[in-house]
Amino acid sequence: MVIFGASGDLTKRKLVPALYELYAENRLPQEFSVIGIGRTAYDDEAFRNYISKQTEKFISSSDHEKTNIDGFISHLYYLAMDPAKADGYSLLDSRLKELAGGGQSDHLLYYLATPPSLYGVIPVHLKEAGLNGPHTRIIVEKPFGYDLESARALNAVYSSAFEERQIYRIDHFLGKETAQNILALRFANGIFEPLWNRNYIDYVEVTAVENLGIEQRGGFYDGTGALRDMVQNHLIQLVALTAMEPPAVFNADSFRNEVVKVYESLAPLTEEDLNEHIVRGQYTAAGNKKGYREESNIPANSRTETYIAMKLGIDNWRWSGVPFYIRTGKQMPTKVTEIVVHFKKTPHQMFRGKEETQYSSMNKLILRLQPNEGIVLKFGMKVPGPGFDVKQVMMDFSYKELGGAPVGDAYARLIEDCIQGDPTLFTRSDAVEASWKFFDPILQYWKERDDAPLYGYPVGTWGPLESEAMMNEHGAEWTNPCKNLTNTDEYCEL
Ligand code: BG6
Repeated sequence: MVIFGASGDLTKRKLVPALYELYAENRLPQEFSVIGIGRTAYDDEAFRNYISKQTEKFISSSDHEKTNIDGFISHLYYLAMDPAKADGYSLLDSRLKELAGGGQSDHLLYYLATPPSLYGVIPVHLKEAGLNGPHTRIIVEKPFGYDLESARALNAVYSSAFEERQIYRIDHFLGKETAQNILALRFANGIFEPLWNRNYIDYVEVTAVENLGIEQRGGFYDGTGALRDMVQNHLIQLVALTAMEPPAVFNADSFRNEVVKVYESLAPLTEEDLNEHIVRGQYTAAGNKKGYREESNIPANSRTETYIAMKLGIDNWRWSGVPFYIRTGKQMPTKVTEIVVHFKKTPHQMFRGKEETQYSSMNKLILRLQPNEGIVLKFGMKVPGPGFDVKQVMMDFSYKELGGAPVGDAYARLIEDCIQGDPTLFTRSDAVEASWKFFDPILQYWKERDDAPLYGYPVGTWGPLESEAMMNEHGAEWTNPCKNLTNTDEYCEL
């Protein structure tokens, strides 16, 4: 395996721990080597030392036997080169041959954990150096492209160097056990399907928010923003899992065909949608926490969004008229990823529901992806005693009940799938383009209209108040684990 971007954040936080998990569980081939590539001037030993130090922070000792960590580290190598320049690739070629010890050197998995600006360059150099043989595979991180046009151009570059079966566009949300469980819930159980449509569902919420800022990623983030970082890939994947038709069989083609159909059914955004059904926000300072514009490598007048909420429609028989509200944000009160399916109210309300608000009905199904992974069904029951008060109660399933930590790491699962040649949980070229096609008008609109609103929200709040207003218009409201909409004065237009 060759990791481009080996001295970067993703490698230490996610890739090395994932590889170690696979190694510790004997899920890697008997013989394997990992070559890290980067511009930092390490040699093998310095890289191993660096990784060794990082493992203390990012690999939990409770999950794995720490004893064989040295065994794992002995499989790591490093090649200092600039992946943007062609001359390093002949060195890579010799290094690969040397490591293969005369054996086959083209059973290779490339992982592009670099800044996105290199995604289009590396495959070209690999091809020129003849390192794109039929046994190679390439995993490329998101965002795949910057907009529709660049995604198409990138697809063209990849298909000139590799066949589609060799290209693995990763979206780590699909590697999460809990995301895959949405499919099991929907398609392994007969009881939900009859309700899973416009006749019974009022609206759907998809939330993926975090209580962290942009950390050390200012340079990357300011040119990306929440729409490209989270919405165009992770959030829309979750919409697809919730909204898709049952695949005929569970294999890569059938599953991915259904995902594309959802993207192609997204109702194109109208002028009204662009003005009123998209709320863009940026976090502002609160207490001793910095605002986005004070973070390092962020221009003082940046208009990059760290929050976005929007309303989507899906134009097909199942979902026509059912809004999907999606949102993501940095520096929110908590970290939570969940899908909430709101069922319609009863046609006639005989009882007074204590918790039934003006907005929500008694019945919600909450699919919690993280934390406290699980599923909750809410419904009304009579409060014992006189009268006929109905109270909302819940039936819940928690992964903890299955015995401890619910899941393996998403990256471990996906890297293993790639090693085994299973692309099901990776994004196909047509899906990437269909998704960009839908989101492109938003990017265009923001680019052309300097006056398109960008709302400030103080760190630690649930985002601009306008996003709540957008929901209320439908008679809906966001499901926030804890309400924190105070200090209204600090909300402002930026
Ligand atoms: C990444 C984004 O893809 O997903 C990050 O680039 C974000 O900005 C992260 O923090 C969230 O992933 P998870 O698995 O921690 O929810």
